[in-house]
Amino acid sequence: MNEDRKIALITGASEGLGAEFARLFAARGHDLALVARRQDRLDALADEIGGGGRPRPLVIALDLTVPDAPAQLAAELKAAGASVQYLVNNAGYGLNGPFGELPLDAQIGMIDLNVHALTALAHVFLPDLERNRGGMLNLASIAAMAPGPGMAVYYASKAFVLSLSEALTEELRPRGVRVTALCPGPVVTGFQERAGMAPETLKPPPGVAGARETVEAGYNGLMAGRRVVTPGLVNQALAAGLAWIPHWITLPQLAARQARRGGEAAK
Ligand SMILES: NC(=O)c1ccc[n+]([C@@H]2O[C@H](COP(=O)([O-])OP(=O)(O)OC[C@H]3O[C@@H](n4cnc5c(N)ncnc54)[C@H](OP(=O)(O)O)[C@@H]3O)[C@@H](O)[C@H]2O)c1
Repeated sequence: MNEDRKIALITGASEGLGAEFARLFAARGHDLALVARRQDRLDALADEIGGGGRPRPLVIALDLTVPDAPAQLAAELKAAGASVQYLVNNAGYGLNGPFGELPLDAQIGMIDLNVHALTALAHVFLPDLERNRGGMLNLASIAAMAPGPGMAVYYASKAFVLSLSEALTEELRPRGVRVTALCPGPVVTGFQERAGMAPETLKPPPGVAGARETVEAGYNGLMAGRRVVTPGLVNQALAAGLAWIPHWITLPQLAARQARRGGEAAK
């Protein structure tokens, strides 16, 4: 079959920022493929987008932590005649709690998704991105800017994403591929519940970018070829603080903040 359907591939599209990315990319005229584990949610979103008169997105229900998932995804897209122009590497999760008390398999699972799957997808779809002169948007976080006691593996995973993305920005620019790291601050999504944060701590700081502003900043940054995008002034201030204030000052503060957020569901 001809690979003539150029798509934006969005991982983790069944809720939260991924679902908002899907709505935004569709509104900006992109054809889509949506990936996450919950098929019913992806179908509902595809119906919503298709019902608005746009092409119905391809839906591929997949656990991206399964080792051959990226290859399987590539095969399914090829069979559907789709070629990836934009990759939104969004699927990811965090776990709040002390490193020694959180289960090892759940923490390794975070690396499998946030680091391993993201890297594999970037590699598998790079030939498509190059052929289509497109790009990838990798979800880092302001958590990428400093180590995070009380959420140590998550912060480390996002530092990996930021470092990889910035390096690839430079490597791939001559090949016509844009790479942007998006560094959101706290946005209330399914993320906090999955991380095991106590509900009363969910309120983001005043003025912090919400979901819509966050995905718009990411989309616009990707299209403009920006290396790193931190949405909104509040997040930019938080990111600058984390990046520049010495760790001996920030580490105890972050440890106290994560402890206040609780960690029941994560255990
Ligand atoms: N929300 C925030 O405060 C915040 C801040 C900074 C960065 N981020 C980053 O933004 C990204 C999106 O987070 P979010 O806030 O939108 O979280 P969310 O609402 O929990 O959504 C996470 C998405 O990832 C999917 N997912 C989880 N495990 C998966 C797996 N094994 N295979 C495939 N898909 C999987 C989930 O779908 P299924 O459960 O259906 O698989 C869901 O669609 C993450 O990378 C996160 O680290 C979030």
